[in-house]
Amino acid sequence: MTIATHRDDTQLAADATALFTHTFGTTPTGVWAAPGRVNLIGEHVDYADGVSIPFALGQSTAAACAPRTDGLLRIVSQADDTLRLDIPLAEVGPNNPANWAGYIAGSIWAGLDSGAIPTCEGMDIALVSDVPVGSGLSSSAALECSVAVAAYELATGTSPDDTARAALVDACIRAENEVVGASTGGLDQRASLFGQPGHALAIDFAANTFTLVPCDMDAAGLVLLIADTNAPHSLADGQYASRRGVIDAVAHDLGSLRTLPNGAEAARTWAQGEHNTAGIEPEVAARRVKHVQEETTRTIEAAHALERADFDTFRRLMADSHISLRDHFEVVTEELESAFQAAGAHGARMTGGGFGGSVIALVPKDQVESTMAAIAAAAKKGGYPEPTFMLATPSAGARRIA
Ligand code: GLA
Repeated sequence: MTIATHRDDTQLAADATALFTHTFGTTPTGVWAAPGRVNLIGEHVDYADGVSIPFALGQSTAAACAPRTDGLLRIVSQADDTLRLDIPLAEVGPNNPANWAGYIAGSIWAGLDSGAIPTCEGMDIALVSDVPVGSGLSSSAALECSVAVAAYELATGTSPDDTARAALVDACIRAENEVVGASTGGLDQRASLFGQPGHALAIDFAANTFTLVPCDMDAAGLVLLIADTNAPHSLADGQYASRRGVIDAVAHDLGSLRTLPNGAEAARTWAQGEHNTAGIEPEVAARRVKHVQEETTRTIEAAHALERADFDTFRRLMADSHISLRDHFEVVTEELESAFQAAGAHGARMTGGGFGGSVIALVPKDQVESTMAAIAAAAKKGGYPEPTFMLATPSAGARRIA
């Protein structure tokens, strides 16, 4: 059983620079990196005024960049495959390019549109990444944020402060929503741009604020193990949008779910009425809203538990979160459930959007090997893909690395 390692900043910068030089025949002006994220708890609540507790991973995407003056974006990416796209900035916009390059070109377009990126007249961009794609660890936010900080710094000559980072968060969300067409919330981009070593972020989406909470799992004798089920998912497909659609429709008519009294009952009644033009089943509406409301209450409790380093409580809440995502929000696949059960249920849960991706488990250090073995054995028994494993450490957010 092996644990996948990742490159340090020096190696990432060297690899991104080599790809840049090989592709474009010149040297980059600099290299910027942005991490993937793991969400500890608070799932499918970022678009519902909820609370989430992610941290930035050590696994990052690096973007070697140089400015151009002819309005062209030339992009090469070496993640799973080597991909290449050239597109004039003037052609980037809603639904174009609605593929992998949309995360990159879209962030620059949205940043220019809002002023988050003051100016850009084209760029050459070479990307390498250690964030696995389709694993629920925000490879897309890592792409967006690495390029957004690069474009910002090339335009201004300085690293973005917190105000500038907040504006870049919004630009990166728009790239995902408007250019790629994935109706995701803002969890991933905040974690990738604001991550701090040794800390998790407790993000309150209703207030649009976050606090940094020390997250010293090591001192508690624990390790955060990520088990990637290797059952790929895409958030640009219809399932994520269908979950969000129910929540948006109810909130549109009844107001913020954060403050809606007896939400499940209210959603059931709403779905029986004439405003439910999409024909959402009343019981489905009730279950979805129940998840969102209980998950937010649970995550607030988890934030307090983390503040006092009470990992026993935190682990219990993680398991409750998974069960609600399975039974009420219905985003847990067989592969995720298998890993959750094998990890010993306590202290484990699926992370990210669901429908595939990863399970995380907060396990005592001396049980890492046995937990990995149990998850792998369960996958084999179920006839599922062989899982891969990583360790997650709270790490730095988007930054210049060369
Ligand atoms: C994906 C989305 C986030 C969030 C999570 C679920 O990661 O990108 O905005 O909704 O799913 O918590």
